[in-house]
Amino acid sequence: MRLVNMKTKIFNRKQLKQAGELIKKGELIAFPTETVYGLGANALNPKAVKKIFVVKGRPSNNPLIIHVCNLKQVEEIAYLNPLAKKLIKKFWPGPLTIILKKKKIVPKEVTAGLRTVAIRMPDNKTALALIKYSNCPIAAPSANISGKPSGTCFEHVYEDFGGKIAGIIKSRQCKIGIESTVLDLTQKIPEILRPGKIIKKQIEKIIGRVRESKGHVSKPKSPGMAYKHYSPNAKVIIVKNKSQIKEVFKKYSGKKIKLLIYKNAINMAHNLFKDFRDADKKGFDIIIVKSIQEKSLGNAIMNRLRKGGKIYQS
Ligand code: TXA
Ligand code: MG
Repeated sequence: MRLVNMKTKIFNRKQLKQAGELIKKGELIAFPTETVYGLGANALNPKAVKKIFVVKGRPSNNPLIIHVCNLKQVEEIAYLNPLAKKLIKKFWPGPLTIILKKKKIVPKEVTAGLRTVAIRMPDNKTALALIKYSNCPIAAPSANISGKPSGTCFEHVYEDFGGKIAGIIKSRQCKIGIESTVLDLTQKIPEILRPGKIIKKQIEKIIGRVRESKGHVSKPKSPGMAYKHYSPNAKVIIVKNKSQIKEVFKKYSGKKIKLLIYKNAINMAHNLFKDFRDADKKGFDIIIVKSIQEKSLGNAIMNRLRKGGKIYQS
């Protein structure tokens, strides 16, 4: 499949019906969610799904999350189990993706040939309306060229995909700013494959013991864990404290350095990917990020940071 230069229509929130019809027809539409922007296609149309991999430059063995707007759609594509039902009741719509055994209707292009499928219901009115209007579940990875920081702002999504997809829905900066928690419910003990806003403790309250994948395994269960991720063009250096900040400035004197320090985890998650991309636009060579305590949302943030950058060793 070749990339053809096409006109990308910019939709506002009142034009979702038109955008939904394009999805249904097999076109790609980028849309906001509460976590990050998604690059959506009709999940039941293999040709449409293949386009996602082409325009993102995504390895075809990295499966996609299917976005739904009601339970009927979940039952159409996967086998629900009691744990899933409890979690759905508690956390949907919201930033929790669950992995279930898939039904035949789901094309192998979506799941990269796996027998399981990742599903979530986004907590964003625009996203939910788009799914409703498209009248099909929507497969969507984060809206960014593969390897880059996830798109959290309309402008950044346009930079990556303008001229390559049928449309983008214009909206505010995504609320949370980092991707959903991914929980595999197909194992004896459910396993968090990717940490996110919804944390282990909250999940355990509802379904009992879960494991947390360390993400450094040689044969990752979530194929996405194997790839370079979240990387701006600038080199990202993660520091602990002021004296390390000083050292890095000294070591790279002469380079254009951006320093990112956040007041709390919520603010950091909300802005980190945006700040990475803005730093690239301004031509910074190096981004220094002050790390955050690895608990709750901080755990998810550090998971992304470690993949996009290097911990500084004095
Ligand atoms: O918040 C989010 O989850 C965003 C928004 C757009 O919903 N989406 C997102 O998608 O982050 P993506 O494709 O960037 O990340 C999906 C992750 C990948 O690491 C992928 O390997 C994993 O979920 N995944 C998808 N299906 C899977 C499956 N059946 N088994 C294991 N991992 C799976
Ligand atoms: Mg992604």
